[in-house]
Amino acid sequence: MKIRGMFITVEGIDGTGKSTQLRLLVRHLRAQGIRVRATREPGGTKLGDQIRRTLLSSRTVKLAPLAELALIYAARAQHLEEVVRPALARGEIVVSDRFNDASFAYQGYGRKLGTPVVRALDRVICGRTQPDLTLLLDLSANRALGRARGREFRRNSARSRFESESQKFHERVRAGYRAIARCEPQRMKLIKADRSVAEVQAEVRSAVDAFLARRKSAGRAGK
Ligand code: TYD
Repeated sequence: MKIRGMFITVEGIDGTGKSTQLRLLVRHLRAQGIRVRATREPGGTKLGDQIRRTLLSSRTVKLAPLAELALIYAARAQHLEEVVRPALARGEIVVSDRFNDASFAYQGYGRKLGTPVVRALDRVICGRTQPDLTLLLDLSANRALGRARGREFRRNSARSRFESESQKFHERVRAGYRAIARCEPQRMKLIKADRSVAEVQAEVRSAVDAFLARRKSAGRAGK
């Protein structure tokens, strides 16, 4: 029988604290001796990082929404081939800072391309490689943008093309994520992010630990 690892993704609008939570989650899993491949989108490969720079730079020409979507899926195709599928085939746990739900939320809802357009590309490029578990960090657009802009000020970093979008845009993205969570409650766990890092992390860990335990017992039952 072919072993397959597990694919966990972390999602949320900008400023929800995804990257911090993901780092702590990876540490928690590795401390148990679990082999984890941590990665992110857009990016995760050389080509992906080049595309990421184009997507995030405010100096980029005004991208047509479909061009933006196609670039993101080009990066994703490379990421799947180089990183995600080989790691899953080795039986590792892949933990990705964003994956395809971000395209449904940002391009489908935020850019108003609609779910069917994103799904069409997703079928071709991701096919059956879909996240097994997704943690959605949920926070109001107002608070999340406030945090993202505070971080940008502290680091003296430039605002990305996405972060420069209006609050309305981020509200649509959030609504998109919440709609996915409602449709697929088994896979996507909504975690309230308006709490301390430790409180959010406790919920992240318990969602992942419960999922791993279920997988383990299902594996034993299948033997
Ligand atoms: P992210 O890496 O979360 O930004 P940060 O530098 O703050 O950690 O994501 C970069 C941006 O890319 C984010 O604003 C959302 C956008 N994005 C999409 O619009 N669609 C996608 O499919 C993905 C993966 C990201």
